[in-house]
Amino acid sequence: MTWVKVCQVSELPPGEKTGLEAMGKNILVVNVDASFYAVDAICSHEAQDLGSGILIDNKITCTRHLSQFDVTTGEALNTPATVPLRRFEVKVEGDMVYVLVD
Ligand code: FES
Repeated sequence: MTWVKVCQVSELPPGEKTGLEAMGKNILVVNVDASFYAVDAICSHEAQDLGSGILIDNKITCTRHLSQFDVTTGEALNTPATVPLRRFEVKVEGDMVYVLVD
């Protein structure tokens, strides 16, 4: 497992998201009320890129079939998606955001 640098804290303000490709994984990193979270960037339903999803508060909506996921837990909140998104551990060190990737 490796801590991968995402961005500076100031580059990801509350309500914003960014994508990260690392070690063969596509990861979505979000700022919800000044806390950072990371989940799979690929919808668990039919693999739509959630980087194009709509983030409001702690929920991201997949643009393909409109399932919503809680980005703080990965939980699928409505069908057609039923499988949660994988979560990744996040840390802030200094002014940098990191995600733990395996
Ligand atoms: S691909 Fe995301 S809800 Fe279907």
